[in-house]
Amino acid sequence: MEFKLIIYEKSDGVATITLNRPEALNAFSKDVIEEILRALEDAKSDENVRVVVLTGAGEKAFSAGADIKGMVGMTALKARELSLMGESLCLALENLEKPVIAAINGYALGGGLEVAMSCDFRIASETARVGQTEVNFGLIPGWGGTQRLTRLVGMTKSKELIFTGKMVDARTAEQLGILNMVTSADKLKETVRQFAQELALKPPVALKVAKALVNKGANIGLDSALALEREGFGVVASSEDLKEGVSAFIEKRKPVFKGK
Ligand code: CAA
Repeated sequence: MEFKLIIYEKSDGVATITLNRPEALNAFSKDVIEEILRALEDAKSDENVRVVVLTGAGEKAFSAGADIKGMVGMTALKARELSLMGESLCLALENLEKPVIAAINGYALGGGLEVAMSCDFRIASETARVGQTEVNFGLIPGWGGTQRLTRLVGMTKSKELIFTGKMVDARTAEQLGILNMVTSADKLKETVRQFAQELALKPPVALKVAKALVNKGANIGLDSALALEREGFGVVASSEDLKEGVSAFIEKRKPVFKGK
């Protein structure tokens, strides 16, 4: 597969997508999004891929968001198109039936934070700074930020961050519940690798169903969500992975899950 704006690598069950425009702080253009979507299609269909990692090239940014330079003279229709484009990337990450980790190696701003919030996990370096900064130039979050940030941190802090457009440091973002883990910049790659490897050894069927249930359940009533969980529990119970997990437990060995 040929890519110009991202780097796509696969190793030990982990597919890594690196945004590769460090000179523009890995801002998202239409072409960048199209390349990521292509890589995600590959990760989806390759059964050797158990986990996906999304990160940014360079030491300064995960991503500084949508390409501001492309916004000069933007019409309402073009802005709607930009919103749809970012949303399609966020939904592709959220709906991928495999865990996705955002490795946040610097700024995650505007659309950069919105994309990171669509991943299942966010692990950041101490040098990272995150924010929904759109208001600073007269805009609002357009790739789900008003909704996903509120779901992560609650309305009080979500409004504070979105209305002020301020950036917060990694430790503050961790305390707010935006980030799962913070590590020193030199340990970020290794921390993410270890976490990805841990997930790669888990039963893929259980992870796939658990991801769908947590995501869907957040947007529907408890009764409906519990009904979905019941069905999901039945589906997972019929998997080879469960048989393997139980046999391994009884035989006192480590399970080897095949995702079937
Ligand atoms: N789009 C396009 N280019 C960007 C960019 C962006 N979002 N962010 C940074 N760049 C470019 C800069 O223009 C600059 O390029 P040039 O050298 O050609 O001028 C280069 O990246 C380096 O940036 P800076 O010189 O600004 O670096 P800095 O260290 O002084 O500042 C920063 C870093 C604070 C992150 C600053 O670049 C900044 O505030 N960027 C904008 C962040 C932002 O508000 N993003 C939201 C975008 S809108 C959005 O995402 C809407 C949505 O919801 C989808």
